[in-house]
Amino acid sequence: MSSFDRSPLVVTIDGPAASGKSSTAKLVAARLGMRHVDSGTLYRTVTASQMRGGEAPELWTEQSVLDAACHVTLVPGETSFVPRLDGAECEAEIRGEAVTGQVSLVAKMPHVRAWVNAMVRSTAASHEIVVDGRDMGTAVFPDARLKVWLVALPEERARRRVLQRLGRGPTPDELAAETADLEARDLKDREQTQPAADAVWIDTTGISQDEQVGRIVSLAEQRR
Ligand code: DC
Repeated sequence: MSSFDRSPLVVTIDGPAASGKSSTAKLVAARLGMRHVDSGTLYRTVTASQMRGGEAPELWTEQSVLDAACHVTLVPGETSFVPRLDGAECEAEIRGEAVTGQVSLVAKMPHVRAWVNAMVRSTAASHEIVVDGRDMGTAVFPDARLKVWLVALPEERARRRVLQRLGRGPTPDELAAETADLEARDLKDREQTQPAADAVWIDTTGISQDEQVGRIVSLAEQRR
């Protein structure tokens, strides 16, 4: 990056599962008048498309998943880019357990990763974006002007996830089960989940969402 860089601003926010990337990225984008892109939704929508074919996951191939990806588009909305499956909104389907259980399999396929990366890069050609994922600051936007790596203790991430899902804090058993589930997902996705060498680390364990958003917004404003 040169100090005279005039390319549209890209802010990358990466981190492990349930580290608060997407909700933070959405708020940062809104504060800065930029668009939010959630790269994980693309992996999820491609997985949902492949699932609609009805074949057992053991039979999925990289080619069948790429064929399924032809049904997926990424449409610019007012504040974010939203994935569509066969032209329709699919948020509930891609957040469901079935897709969540298989998406890591799809995210491991190198040609699928290349497809998602090209799709995400295309959004930055014409818009300033805040993009979140696992490898946005490394594989996809190595020259991004601001890269953030969000971390939080597994128990804290698990607590937030239960709170989001059930609207109340977890019981000790729920907390243990959710933490184990998150750690298993971290393990499945660990290869592509890496901080960029020049990322700013923010540990969100002890700070409020407002504070995290405020820190990222002021860093982005300095680099705009
Ligand atoms: O963040 P998420 O749970 O929506 O991500 C869904 C899956 O996609 C998860 O298995 C991690 C993977 N993913 C990835 O490999 N690279 C990204 N840039 C974003 C998500």
